[in-house]
Amino acid sequence: MTKKETALITGATSGIGYDCAVILAERGYDLFLASRNRSALEGIKAAFEPQYGVAVEILSVDLSKAGSAQLVFDHGAQRDLEVAVLINNAGFGAQGAHVDLPLAAVSKKIVKSSLNI
Ligand SMILES: NC(=O)c1ccc[n+]([C@@H]2O[C@H](COP(=O)([O-])OP(=O)(O)OC[C@H]3O[C@@H](n4cnc5c(N)ncnc54)[C@H](OP(=O)(O)O)[C@@H]3O)[C@@H](O)[C@H]2O)c1
Repeated sequence: MTKKETALITGATSGIGYDCAVILAERGYDLFLASRNRSALEGIKAAFEPQYGVAVEILSVDLSKAGSAQLVFDHGAQRDLEVAVLINNAGFGAQGAHVDLPLAAVSKKIVKSSLNI
């Protein structure tokens, strides 16, 4: 079987990242999905591989933690994945005027800053 190009998507278990995973799988990309929710990742892998005929590599990782980008890099390198597309999507949002938001909602680390690859 010819090796396909791989798309790395962070935050692929819901929302925009999940929809990107569907679109890229439909276009024939193998997927490398990194999010925290392991059972959701396993569910996507189980559904997408037979449905789209692509390989889905998954990694349960909290990208807000120091060193998490290295974990993603190492996981891909160990499996010889050649990442052709990066959807660096994992993150969160809070709605409302900044001054009105609870401190806990705005003091989380910005997920995207931990993935400088
Ligand atoms: N929707 C909007 O209107 C909008 C507007 C502007 C910007 N954005 C940005 O677009 C991105 C996606 O938004 P969305 O609405 O699709 O969000 P969403 O449905 O809440 O999905 C967020 C994704 O990020 C993952 N994630 C969150 N924190 C993570 C962490 N610490 N480590 C690893 N994965 C993490 C979640 O998976 P797990 O829970 O499995 O980890 C989930 O798959 C976010 O970065 C958001 O800030 C969205």
